[in-house]
Amino acid sequence: MSGELDLSVRVGSVTLPTPVLVASGTFGYGSESPELTRAGELGGIVTKTITLEPRRGNEPLRLHETPAGLINSIGLQNVGVDRFREEKLPKLRALGVPIIASVGGRRAEEFVETVQRLEGVDGIVAYEINVSCPNVKEGGIEFCQRPESAAEVITAVRNVTKLPLWTKLSPNVSHIGVVAKACADAGADAFTAVNTFVGLSVDVKTRRSHIPLGTGGVSGPAIRPLALAKVRETVRATPLPVVGCGGIASANDALQFLVVGASAVQVGTASFRVPDIAARIQDGMKDFLRSEGLTSIGDLIGSYLDPSGPARP
Ligand SMILES: Cc1cc2nc3c(=O)[nH]c(=O)nc-3n(C[C@H](O)[C@H](O)[C@H](O)COP(=O)(O)O)c2cc1C
Repeated sequence: MSGELDLSVRVGSVTLPTPVLVASGTFGYGSESPELTRAGELGGIVTKTITLEPRRGNEPLRLHETPAGLINSIGLQNVGVDRFREEKLPKLRALGVPIIASVGGRRAEEFVETVQRLEGVDGIVAYEINVSCPNVKEGGIEFCQRPESAAEVITAVRNVTKLPLWTKLSPNVSHIGVVAKACADAGADAFTAVNTFVGLSVDVKTRRSHIPLGTGGVSGPAIRPLALAKVRETVRATPLPVVGCGGIASANDALQFLVVGASAVQVGTASFRVPDIAARIQDGMKDFLRSEGLTSIGDLIGSYLDPSGPARP
């Protein structure tokens, strides 16, 4: 509760103090400069995707600014699960904010082993399973490109943990709802929708991509309407809760995701411009509730008047 206003939400069995989290990979390990980011006030922190072994990531340049957005090709640079657990997690835990550990891997077994090394560690309330990673067994296409591959990861991780599994969905598929359904059947508890959209930006003088690897992932306000539509599709696909993500930079943006049925939201790229934007979005949500004469953010969730009918009659 905040005064007379209640911003708390539930994502399945997890209660969050507010519906605003920060997105994986866009907030360091969460504990850097907490005064600047107001990290201790947030609804939750999703960690950088953690893998079994440390990863150096792709060669620079790894970020390029595009109209109202960014293209990135970071390549899952991270310190690896052991250093994350020993060095990063204690500082993150000291903030007193729910921690969602993002986990990635090249094969299902790698996801499993990473999760096993985080089991029983205090402070983690859920895992976010990043199925946008290249799948070595399938020749490098992302797990989420094939619903069965994404589901295989979820089934494998489900067997080794009781913590909630949020599946981070990629928007780069024809039918995100089909992938969501397969993951729900495999034991997912919630979805985070969405990761970055595949994009390309070319330097016409050199005739090369601005990113050495060619395509990268587009994020930021440019993708917001696209992400919102994907979130709506995900909400309609299964009864599981959805955490909306993609281009959120203001309270109004975040509220759109809640109205279409997201139970919470994640803020990513906008933090690069304004480090405490997620906390400011929470402030703006309270202003909106007051202006509407509402007391609980829950009243807005799923209140969308969908021309194609209710999502979950
Ligand atoms: C620099 C950068 C690094 C990212 N790293 C990860 C990551 O490690 N794992 C992941 O699941 N998503 C990662 N993402 C995707 C974001 O979590 C988010 O899904 C996406 O950027 C869309 O949200 P936004 O428009 O608010 O940034 C990254 C995004 C950016 C811009």
